[in-house]
Amino acid sequence: MATESNGIGEGQWNPLEPFAPYADRNKDEILAVLKDVVPDAGTVLEIGCGKGLHSAYFARAFPALHWLPTDGDDQVLQSARAWGAFAKLPNLGEPLVLDVQSSQWPVARADFIVAVNVIHISAWRTCERLFTGAAQILSSGQQVFIYGPFLERNGRTAASNFAFDRKLKARNPEWGVREMGAVVGAAGAAKFELSRAMDMPNNNKALVFKLTRSADA
Ligand SMILES: C[S@@+](CC[C@H](N)C(=O)[O-])C[C@H]1O[C@@H](n2cnc3c(N)ncnc32)[C@H](O)[C@@H]1O
Repeated sequence: MATESNGIGEGQWNPLEPFAPYADRNKDEILAVLKDVVPDAGTVLEIGCGKGLHSAYFARAFPALHWLPTDGDDQVLQSARAWGAFAKLPNLGEPLVLDVQSSQWPVARADFIVAVNVIHISAWRTCERLFTGAAQILSSGQQVFIYGPFLERNGRTAASNFAFDRKLKARNPEWGVREMGAVVGAAGAAKFELSRAMDMPNNNKALVFKLTRSADA
């Protein structure tokens, strides 16, 4: 069921508790896909890192990459900082506050962007701004990785994703499982093209978007 792997639906949310059961459950399946798509070197900007369990796990798996965790919520970053102190990895950056919707991101350049379970737990403009912001800090050919549940046309959407969408909207009317075509459209408006789409466990998907030119080109 989508809610168990996508960040809500497990009782009281405590941002100061570093362990995130849903992130622990999906970390290996996401890592397996990331291995095929991350660059050999450079900076990975993680957007919406939440409690930071993934950040420490992925930084350990990719020692040649500088992993930079960020989130719009400074409170939840306290847990990400705790993971950093625990992991003691030279390539894991100090977590930064980055609200995707802000006009000025605190990161000028990155080589790859990761956003796991973010765009459905935020307003739609976060998805749009994620791509326009990414286009400003990536170079042509570099990629954005998005993981989460999606709605699909042609009757392909799992019943659990429709149920999850209703649950999200009941919690916040601006949230919701995004329609994959709309996400591809938002990416296209910022000059990203869908380069890979992979079905993942629990009716999730991993989507990879490649920048076809830099925003300043
Ligand atoms: C369900 S959590 C996912 C956390 C983590 N990626 C994971 O999979 O465990 C969604 C995260 O997105 C963050 N988020 C939502 N809207 C955001 C925005 N506009 N800018 C940055 N982060 C945002 C929330 O603060 C939250 O930490």
